[in-house]
Amino acid sequence: MIRDAAIPEPVDWDAEAARFDDEPDHGLRDPAVRGAWAARLRDWLPERPSDILDLGCGTGSLSLVATDQGHRVTAVDLSPAMVDLARAKLAGRAAEVLVGDASAPPVGGRTFDAVLVRHVAWTLPDLDGALAHWLSLLRPGGRLVLVEGVWGTLSPVGTPAARLTGALAPLTAHVRHEPLSGDALLWGRRVEDDRYAVIATRH
Ligand SMILES: C[S@@+](CC[C@H](N)C(=O)[O-])C[C@H]1O[C@@H](n2cnc3c(N)ncnc32)[C@H](O)[C@@H]1O
Repeated sequence: MIRDAAIPEPVDWDAEAARFDDEPDHGLRDPAVRGAWAARLRDWLPERPSDILDLGCGTGSLSLVATDQGHRVTAVDLSPAMVDLARAKLAGRAAEVLVGDASAPPVGGRTFDAVLVRHVAWTLPDLDGALAHWLSLLRPGGRLVLVEGVWGTLSPVGTPAARLTGALAPLTAHVRHEPLSGDALLWGRRVEDDRYAVIATRH
């Protein structure tokens, strides 16, 4: 059985919010970094304008890129401070931002063409339950896009890719693992640890 690298320490995300975008891959302020993420999203999300659910959206940087590409976004985060920043960033866009739990987002009976989750799965106490719920929020043929990693080398935290592909393979039509560590543009620097995307397509 593949276990998560370590049980994460709880993070005070409200306290992290004000400085969150200072990291190149969070704020996407550098056009080259933003362009690298835009290219990935273009590949991972449907080609046509679609309904996207961005869970644990943080300050809304990836949601913003998705709206740039014509998608309609519902973004959810548990941290009111993150939600305030995401609402400001997404003002005037085809986007709504809700306070809620990524494991059970407050979207009623709505379904989506893609569920996007970046750097959030590793924090969830019931990962298998969350994965099953996210698949239930997808329309037929919809995609679950997980961007995760195992960060650090001495005391790694995160979720190994095989933990996600192994859980999703029996539940979905197709699962793909895409290594991301080698693309320094995504992170604004070279990285040595394991960063990846897992894209699963619903039956
Ligand atoms: C590392 S940040 C990633 C933010 C964003 N997805 C990104 O890639 O820029 C993790 C985010 O997940 C949020 N979060 C953590 N646990 C959550 C939960 N159970 N439900 C919703 N959001 C959660 C935090 O508030 C924080 O904004």
